[in-house]
Amino acid sequence: MCFQKMSKPRIWVTRRLSDATLERAARDYEVVINYEDRPGTAEEIIAASAAFDGIIPCHSEHFSAEVVAQFSDRLKIVANHSVGVDHCDLPALKSRGIVVTNTPDVLSDATAELAMLLMLGAARHAVAGDRIVRSGAWDSWSPAFMVGKQVTGARLGIIGMGRVGRAFAAKARGFDMELHYFNRSPLAEELTQGAVYHDTVESLLGVSDFLSLHCPATPETNGLMSAERFALMPAGAVFVNTARGALVDEAALIGALDSGQLSAAGLDCFQVEPGGNPAFSRFDNIFMLPHIGSATGQTRDAMGFRALDNLDAFFAGKAPGDQL
Ligand code: DGY
Repeated sequence: MCFQKMSKPRIWVTRRLSDATLERAARDYEVVINYEDRPGTAEEIIAASAAFDGIIPCHSEHFSAEVVAQFSDRLKIVANHSVGVDHCDLPALKSRGIVVTNTPDVLSDATAELAMLLMLGAARHAVAGDRIVRSGAWDSWSPAFMVGKQVTGARLGIIGMGRVGRAFAAKARGFDMELHYFNRSPLAEELTQGAVYHDTVESLLGVSDFLSLHCPATPETNGLMSAERFALMPAGAVFVNTARGALVDEAALIGALDSGQLSAAGLDCFQVEPGGNPAFSRFDNIFMLPHIGSATGQTRDAMGFRALDNLDAFFAGKAPGDQL
C-alpha cells in the first residue's frame, strides 16, 4: 500500500532541525515542528503516538518501555535523527509494531573530527592555555611551560571499530599514530588497515597512550570505563569520549585524573545531559564540549535527509534503509 498517494502522513518533528530538512519535510508531509526546540516530554511523546503517523526525534526524546506502554495505535515509525538509539527501548517499540530507524554513516566524519579536536586539545592543554591568555595571566614563557603529550607516533586505542571508530582511525593515521582496537569481533584488514586487534578491553588498555570510545551505550557497555580499567592504562594516558556518558564511571575518571594515571581527558558526552558533571569543572586538564560531535551544517542536513529517506521508504511501502 502506498500511504502517500492516499493522504500526506502526519509527522512530528521534535526539535528544530536544519532548514533544508524542515523544508523537505514540509513539502512531503503534514508536519508539526517544535520550534521551541526543547526536549519532548514523556507526556508529549505519548500524546504524539495518537496524533501522528511518524515522529522524527533526536536523542533528547526518551522512548522508554514505560512511555511506549502508554502509546496509542496510530504511530507507525520513529525515524531518529541520530545514530545512537540508547534513548529508545527498541524491544518495546518493536513489540508495538513500530518501525525504528537511525542515521548511520553521515555523521561519522564530523564526530571523528571532534574526537581529534578533543584528543589534541586535551593533550596540549587547550583549556588551561586559553584561560591563561584570555585572562591576561600570561606573563612568562619557559621551556617547562605547558608541556603536553605528543600525539604523533603515539599508540592510540579505539574501543568500537564501527563507522565512527574507523573514521577516527583514518584521521589518526594522518598523525602516524600506532593504531590498536577492541571490537566485538576482529574486522577485515581492508577496514582496519594495519590496526592491531585486541580480543579484550584490558589488553587494549595496556597499550593505549591515547584511548577513544566509539561504541554504543547498551546494558553491556554501561560503566565500561571503571576505576579498574583506567588503572590498566599507561601512566599519563589521555582519554577521549565522543560516544556516550553512560560508558564512563565519572567518579573513576575523576580518580584517574587526580592520581595522574590520566594526564588529560577530552569529553563531549556526560552521564547527565544537558549540564554535564559539575565536579569536572575544577580540572583544567579536561577539555569539555556540550555533545556537539555531529554538529556541522553539512552533517545536520545529511542527518535530516537520512531520517526523511527512511520515512519516505516506509510510507512508500518499502523497508527503510536504516531500519533497526
Ligand atoms: C547521535 O547521533 O547519536 C549523536 O550523539 C547526536 O544525537
